[in-house]
Amino acid sequence: MCGNIVLCGFMGCGKTTVGQVLAQKSGRSFLDLDQYIEQQQGKTVSQIFADDGEATFRRLENEAARELSRKDNLVIATGGGTVLKEENAALLRETGVIVLLNASLETLERRLDGVSNRPLLQRDDRQEFLRDLYARRIPLYRAAAQLCVEADGDPETVSEHILQKTELFFSKNS
Ligand code: S3P
Repeated sequence: MCGNIVLCGFMGCGKTTVGQVLAQKSGRSFLDLDQYIEQQQGKTVSQIFADDGEATFRRLENEAARELSRKDNLVIATGGGTVLKEENAALLRETGVIVLLNASLETLERRLDGVSNRPLLQRDDRQEFLRDLYARRIPLYRAAAQLCVEADGDPETVSEHILQKTELFFSKNS
């Protein structure tokens, strides 16, 4: 059995992009939790928020975390809110290691500029909201994650750092 590598962090920190590179490097399959939900529901995350509300999305996210935590040999890109629910984080830690991709606010603002597929950011006070949400969430990500990697760099470099840290983690904890 090969433990999962679970990537967490704020929207735009690179969970999906880095996760795909990391999956190749580590010989694991890549799975994006938001895409998993979208495939199961037959609609996008934005449509789920609009049609059914955020609470429904969070329930689907919890079910997805439970299902994926039963698998192994995966790199899992979580959604930006997934591990903020401790139950989800605990499930994902059972079969994997949670890694925080720690990108600066400046990097996130740049990467999220003009992006329209994040329902939480579809608001007039977007910039202020993003800063406030970032400040509130960072300590929660740190508490949920077992490892932390700086994520302002390119996906190749970030995934290499994750690989080094997770290999050490699994060798100590196996
Ligand atoms: C969310 C982040 C999104 C997605 C949903 C809610 C959040 O995922 O799960 O829009 O609460 O931060 P990304 O982090 O991949 O953008």
